[in-house]
Amino acid sequence: MQNNKEVILKVEHLCQYFKMGPTYELKAVDDFNIELGKGEVFGLVGESGCGKTTTGRTIIKLYDATSGNVYYKGQRIVAGIRSYKDKIKSEKKRVEDEIEKLREEEKLGDSGAKEKIKTLKHELSKEIAAQKENIKLAKIDQKKCDKIYSAKLVSQLKAELKEKREQTSNQEEIEKLEKDYALKIQIAKKERLVNEIQMIFQDPIASLDPRMTVREIIAEGLIIKGIKDKEYIDERVCEALEKVGLVREHANRYPHEFSGGQRQRIGVARSVIMNPSVIIADEPVSALDVSIQAQVINLLNEVRNELGLTIMFIAHDLSVIKYFSDRIGVMYFGKLVELATSDELFAHPLHPYTRSLLSAIPLPDPVYEKKRKRIVYNPIAEHDYSKEQPSMREITEGHFIMCNTEEFNKYKKQLEAEKK
Ligand SMILES: Nc1ncnc2c1ncn2[C@@H]1O[C@H](COP(=O)(O)OP(=O)(O)O)[C@@H](O)[C@H]1O
Ligand SMILES: [Mg+2]
Repeated sequence: MQNNKEVILKVEHLCQYFKMGPTYELKAVDDFNIELGKGEVFGLVGESGCGKTTTGRTIIKLYDATSGNVYYKGQRIVAGIRSYKDKIKSEKKRVEDEIEKLREEEKLGDSGAKEKIKTLKHELSKEIAAQKENIKLAKIDQKKCDKIYSAKLVSQLKAELKEKREQTSNQEEIEKLEKDYALKIQIAKKERLVNEIQMIFQDPIASLDPRMTVREIIAEGLIIKGIKDKEYIDERVCEALEKVGLVREHANRYPHEFSGGQRQRIGVARSVIMNPSVIIADEPVSALDVSIQAQVINLLNEVRNELGLTIMFIAHDLSVIKYFSDRIGVMYFGKLVELATSDELFAHPLHPYTRSLLSAIPLPDPVYEKKRKRIVYNPIAEHDYSKEQPSMREITEGHFIMCNTEEFNKYKKQLEAEKK
């Protein structure tokens, strides 16, 4: 997080485990943490299959999180319960083991053991009750956050209407106010908090239904919200089209009539019409020609400035996100391994995986290209975590790296040498 910026999205210990059989789980996202400041562009990078898309999908509630929380504007919208269940299990086991030991001691004549067992059991039942309460609250937030939010919007609108009505005695004006607000309230009733976070998908061809016109595709979100007013919908669709550099005449056409770059513009329009605060752009340019990539990135930059958006930009290589991102997080097998501002990450990459990603970027410089060596990352050879497990540690302000103490000291020295 950049200093003193309002946090708009906070992801905390997020885990998404997929059941792959009776005993095996795939940890697609494993203890993922990030705080996004309002207006920030956060680049999330890592090789294919490392869990980037799953992270995005879990944040927007397409999947139920296994564990961890997501807060949007301070309201918890995602709340997994596994960690609470695990805590109950581990506490039960710990207390059982201790009681067993105490029983042995009691047999050997320890008169205080009985009392200790009683205290332990009491503490355990308190702990279980606390965790059950956590589970209950998580389930409420996960299911009801949208209802709570829409109820709040509706009551705000009703209060607004009341205030405005009191200011006028003109019957015609009152009727118009009531009509306007009836529509606003109808929309607010179906509003979901998570709609304010929109995702743009990777493949602009597969993600647009070929049988739908551009108007239908872009308006879909509004229709799901229960809006039926055709005039209102048309107006919003045209507005969205113009915002992304298309024209209103495009509304009647079908996706196949457009180029890849234009299709991704339609994808952006479909998100923008929902009036989001946060956009998760999942490799939005990976399927496009290099010449078109810059156009789509510029477009995202424009809508970001115009709408004050916060963007999580997902990519599988660093070259695409270098200039666009304020901060970059590098992901490897479900975990962030390095997090820093874009400038810092490129100037002083520390984690060997980040270095390997950087070594993969070609530059239009034949001398450099001749010398460029691809670094291959091999976690088994790079790290010895037999004595101490790694965790995310801050090495300089805002620069975090996944490492244990020994590595931390090594990276620190390396960084000092580089900065000299
Ligand atoms: N719905 C799913 N069920 C089971 N496994 C999944 C599912 N979605 C993704 N995965 C697996 O989770 C891992 C992360 O996938 P994904 O998030 O798509 O990675 P990325 O977007 O970084 O390429 C992969 O191993 C993938 O096969
Ligand atoms: Mg993906």
